[in-house]
This record gives sequence, C-alpha cells and structure tokens, in this order.
Amino acid sequence: MSQASAPGAATARAFPNLALVKYWGKRDEDLILPVAGSLSLTLDAFPTTTTVRLDPGRDQDTFELNGAAATGTAAQRVTAFLDLVRERAGATTRASVRSVNEAPTGAGLASSASGFAALATAAAAAYGLDLDTSALSRLARRGSGSAARSVIGNVAIWHAGTDDETSFAEPVPAPDLAMVVATVDCAAKAISSREAMRRTASSSPYFVAWITSTETTLTEMVAACRAGDFTRIGQITEAHALRMHGLIASTEPPIRYLQPRSIEVMDAVVALREEGVEAYSTADAGPNVAVLVRPEQAEAVAARLRDVVGPEQVRTTGAGPGAHLLSGTEVPAAAEASTEAGS
Ligand code: PMV
Repeated sequence: MSQASAPGAATARAFPNLALVKYWGKRDEDLILPVAGSLSLTLDAFPTTTTVRLDPGRDQDTFELNGAAATGTAAQRVTAFLDLVRERAGATTRASVRSVNEAPTGAGLASSASGFAALATAAAAAYGLDLDTSALSRLARRGSGSAARSVIGNVAIWHAGTDDETSFAEPVPAPDLAMVVATVDCAAKAISSREAMRRTASSSPYFVAWITSTETTLTEMVAACRAGDFTRIGQITEAHALRMHGLIASTEPPIRYLQPRSIEVMDAVVALREEGVEAYSTADAGPNVAVLVRPEQAEAVAARLRDVVGPEQVRTTGAGPGAHLLSGTEVPAAAEASTEAGS
C-alpha cells in the first residue's frame, strides 16, 4: 500500500445501495467478514457527502452530521474508523468530519452504507492513502459491511472472502435496473442491524440454512445478471428479501422490521405483476420497501405506490456511481448548513 502526500482535507460522495441478495450475519465482528456473499444495486439518490479535514490543534475527532454535532455511538464509530485509517497512514492527527446525508437516517435505507463509503473515500485521501477500489471497498467494510458495496457503482457483488484481504466488492455486469423506493416510516429503527444480526446468529434455528442457501442464491443471481435476465433477477430479489425477514422473525426474542404498510406495498407489487407490470419488492432492516423495475416502468410503478403510501413518500432512482472524491467542494459547517439537510 503506497502512501501519497496527504492533502489534509478531502470531500467524497457515496450513494446507498440496496441488496438484491442480502447480507445478514457476520462471521467476524471485528473485521466485519460476512457469513455469505451478497449483491446490490447502488442508487443515484440519497447521497452522503463527507468532508474530512485534518485538525492538528485537537486531541479528539469531531463529527457533525446534517449540521448537528454527533455524540455517542455515531461519534465513536467515526473515531474507531478514523483510527484504522490513521494506523494505515502512520498518522496520529485528529480530524473534523462533516457529513450531509440526504436519506432518512436509520430507517433501512442503508445510510450506513453511503456514510462509511463516503467517509472511507474522503479519509483515505485526507490522510494520503493511495488505495485502489478493492482496498477502498475493504476499508469501507470495516465501518459497515454494506458500505463495501457502495464503493462500487451499479451492480456490485461483495465476496464473503475468508479474511480481510479477500472480502471486498467488485462490479458485476447487469441489465439496466431502477428502484422505486416507498418510504413507510423515517423513524430510526429500534434494533440496529448489528444487534439483530447477533441475535439471529445466536438464536435462530434457521441460521445455518440461511448461510448455505444464500451462497447458492448468489451464484444464481450472478448468472441472471450476466445473462441480462430481468425476470429472474426480480424473482430472486423478492424471494431472498422475504427469506431474510423470515429469518429475522425466527429469532428469540423475535424481531420484525416490516410494518402493515410495508406489506400493503408488497401486495400492490404483486397486483402490478398480475396486471403484467414486472416489479419485485425488497426491504432492508427497516419498514421501507424498494421495488425493482425496468427503468422505463419506474414512473408507472411509482404512480401506483403513491396511492398506497402517499405522494411525498415515493421516489424513483436509477443506478448510481461508486464512491468518489469531489474536487473543490466542501460540506458546509454547521452554521452555514441548510436547515433542510438537517430535517
Ligand atoms: O451494513 P449494515 O450493518 O447496515 O447491514 C445491512 C444489512 C441489510 O441492509 C439488511 C442487508 C444488506 O445486504 O444490505
């Protein structure tokens, strides 16, 4: 790993991704190695933009999210992540981190994925680490598993790997895909995916079957992507999401992320298919539902979902780029941050 000269400050942008084959469960909590591989679509909406600025005058890092100083777990996770970057860079200087996240935080729209992919990209540059895409994906993985995939644009496979070196995401050729996201509830989830994954591993009787079946599903999904088979991609997406939510519901005590309104959206998607519109639903660890569609059908599907969740709650998105540096841009400091970003 070579070390370029450290510019001292950098700004990066990353987009969330939605898994079509889900990641659920770690085999190594510290390195964040997953029990199985996964595959996702990086979106072109709800980005996180992050500036990391080295701050030699301070004895601790500061983290500001959407214009407000973050404390507690959020700040600890950022510092723990920066420690990894500093260790690699042979640096001790603390940093100020400012982030603007355009997604509803903590509601299953993978804000941790865009967040840590942007942080990894900005921090690596600010501390002068010259990382290739795989190394950046591995670094982002240490912040949040799904962030490994947001380093990559469009469709990405995250190889489970067997150690830090081999667990990273890379692109997979795929047909044009779009997502219609129906926001059911923006409130932060009561149980973090980290905690829920632990509970699943320790108490679900189905966990081993989940691991083995996910590897098979992933192989099938990669083949469907390479073949450009939209129908098969959609079928696998919907089945695997429901399988994950079934697995999560099988823990003790049980966890349920989906809400009645989420099921209503899923039923509307089934009804659309019966009418001949190919759409397939998925949901991460939260109540919001994302619907996989061909780009040309996104608007028609969005119109139908607006009837279910309300006109303001539906957003269509296409495939987005991987995490990247922005030149000459800086996330505004709290005093200048728009109030909209903080809402
Ligand atoms: O990266 P985490 O710890 O936020 O886990 C994300 C897990 C799911 O979003 C539910 C599934 C996935 O593959 O993204």
